[in-house]
Amino acid sequence: MGPKAVCLIISCTLLAWYMHTTFSANFEQPWKLMLMDSSLKILQHMASLLEKLGLMSFWDFLHILMRWQIVEPISDENVTVTDAIVKDVLVRYYVSKKKSHELKRAIIYFHGGGASFGTIALPHYDVFARLAANTLDAVVVGSDYRKIPKYHHPTQWSDAYDFLKSFLQPETLAKYGVDPTRVCILGDSSGAAVAAAMTQQVMGDPEIPIKPKAQALIYPVLQMLDTDMPSYRENEYGIMLPKSLLIKMMSEYLGIDESLEQAMKSNQHIPAEYSHLLKFVNWSTLLPERFKKGHVYTERIYGSSEIVKKFPGIVDPRANPLLANDSTLSLQPLTYILTCQYDILRDDGLIYVSRLRNNGVQVFHEHIEEGFHGSLMCIHKPFDLDLGWRLVGKIISWINENL
Ligand SMILES: *[C@@H]1O[C@H](CO)[C@@H](O)[C@H](O)[C@H]1NC(C)=O
Ligand SMILES: *[C@@H]1O[C@H](CO)[C@@H](O)[C@H](O)[C@H]1NC(C)=O
Ligand SMILES: *[C@@H]1O[C@H](CO)[C@@H](O)[C@H](O)[C@H]1NC(C)=O
Repeated sequence: MGPKAVCLIISCTLLAWYMHTTFSANFEQPWKLMLMDSSLKILQHMASLLEKLGLMSFWDFLHILMRWQIVEPISDENVTVTDAIVKDVLVRYYVSKKKSHELKRAIIYFHGGGASFGTIALPHYDVFARLAANTLDAVVVGSDYRKIPKYHHPTQWSDAYDFLKSFLQPETLAKYGVDPTRVCILGDSSGAAVAAAMTQQVMGDPEIPIKPKAQALIYPVLQMLDTDMPSYRENEYGIMLPKSLLIKMMSEYLGIDESLEQAMKSNQHIPAEYSHLLKFVNWSTLLPERFKKGHVYTERIYGSSEIVKKFPGIVDPRANPLLANDSTLSLQPLTYILTCQYDILRDDGLIYVSRLRNNGVQVFHEHIEEGFHGSLMCIHKPFDLDLGWRLVGKIISWINENL
């Protein structure tokens, strides 16, 4: 047997192993998707292995892979692209070149990646931002934030807040030709958590004179109190974002601590003193019937008080926008929420839809039956999928009609 055959057999075995993933027959372009998902899982396993061997941290490995993909700020015939570094944080501006007499709309983008990797300079964000700026004749500005393993909550929140405080000022908006009544805050995944937390902050914050007209949250992560919701159960081995990776991201977002990760994994991380917060994430009362689908709400096993003492972020609404009280929620602007059926975070988004609507907020909810977490990333070659393009179309057209 030649080396090629050996490689082939090893690859096939690896692929078969990683396809342990819950794979729905409904997915379009299933082979391409399976290959992409398996490759990601292989990279995750390599990162874990390197971490176990003490060679580098899981995230450092992913940061290296990410750095290879970063795209430079290159303007094209339609859009001017520029970078600024503010306090070690990259801010990238995409400004439409159309010459109109009107002021432009603005989209403020917070990127995803579990607050552990990712940057607005990744190719799929570049594709999205260019397209949005050009199609909507808008200014799209993406702000990064510092990441784990070096920085933990609330650094990400503060970085985003510092940026917003300086951007949402009349002089700054005037400089970019932005109409202050037409600003939207947008984010995907953990970036949608930042977007939601920022919108909550800005709406009641006297230091920020300009309020967003809308927020758009793409498969947001909005809480870490309940890791046993129906979507967690159904997508434990789901595509792109399995539970093990999500829990690692959420726990390390607060601090590196093995016992925290274990407690979160078994949903025994919230101490009894904080049980009053569980009503805000109670899927039994807040999920629409069709998503409960035979799941039984089990009463909680409470965790040790030490956890919250050590990691107060675990119950902080800035890291769990679903914990905001009703008076904060009632101040939220027009909201777009996109959820995907095959997403461990699906129920976070669905519960936010319920809670916002219960508080009189106008919410446009888009549920993608054939969608999975991270679909929006699939818009640059060779990783593009029809699904990714459809999502982009939906998001841009909603913004066009509502901003
Ligand atoms: C510029 O905009 C036009 C019209 O929207 C589009 O056809 C063209 O592909 C755009 N150019 C680039 C480089 O995206
Ligand atoms: C969640 O809601 C159910 C009713 O649907 C209730 O029995 C349960 O006690 C609630 N749990 C919490 C922690 O609020
Ligand atoms: C709701 O939360 C906000 C922000 O944390 C706080 O300032 C306010 O006092 C709370 N309101 C009520 C009624 O608890």
